Amino acid sequence: MIRWFKPVVFLACLIPLAVLGWKAYSGGLGANPIEVITHATGDWTLRFLLITLSITPIRKLTGRLWLIRYRRMLGLFAFFYATLHFLTYIWLDKFFDLHDMLHDIAKRKFITVGFAGFVLLIPLALTSTKGWIRRLGGKRWQALHRLIYFSAIAGVIHYWWLVKADIREPLKYAAILAVLLGYRIAVWAGPKLSGNKAKALREPQVQIPEG
Ligand code: HEM
Repeated sequence: MIRWFKPVVFLACLIPLAVLGWKAYSGGLGANPIEVITHATGDWTLRFLLITLSITPIRKLTGRLWLIRYRRMLGLFAFFYATLHFLTYIWLDKFFDLHDMLHDIAKRKFITVGFAGFVLLIPLALTSTKGWIRRLGGKRWQALHRLIYFSAIAGVIHYWWLVKADIREPLKYAAILAVLLGYRIAVWAGPKLSGNKAKALREPQVQIPEG
């Protein structure tokens, strides 16, 4: 793939932040700026999680193997927006009131599950370097990075639980996530099922009585 493409993707990933920054500068955040920032950073966390999860299926289905080079960057952008989202909450919303925050995390179940989704991303971000892949070994590293599935599930549940009535938006994210996880289940179960089928064909199903 062309060399300049990676910096272009990197800059494109910063556009949501630039838009927020521009709105803040030009007074375009409306009457409730904290809400606008929380929603925008939350939306982009979930979008980047789903974009990261779509790299493997698109890569395998289209044969565009170079896409793998973008997966780590996109995953780190998911973490970046999640951190901004969390910072908005603890800084602008709660003013670092630890007691209030802990109470919220324990009592409001949509916050509990959102917090879990964020915490699950931390080991992934910390071990995203080549050094950590070497240290952990490919298999263990891959197993650890499957936590992203649970983080995305937590993100969708978090969104679903926080909307009061109209569940159309979280439903769209849930549907996309179901397809992305369904693809992985199919890839994992496929050889097992066809292996069992082949075994079943090799072994006679009906016992023929002797004599
Ligand atoms: C993987 C982690 C997370 C994801 C994917 C995520 C995603 C989202 C999404 C999509 C929204 C709704 C945006 C909209 O309405 O357009 C949202 C709202 C929100 N999130 Fe998160 N979130 C995560 C973690 C957290 C954490 C750790 C906290 C705080 C501890 C948090 C607190 C909130 C709050 C307070 C709202 C606004 C609720 C409201 O409008 O009543 N989120 N988040």
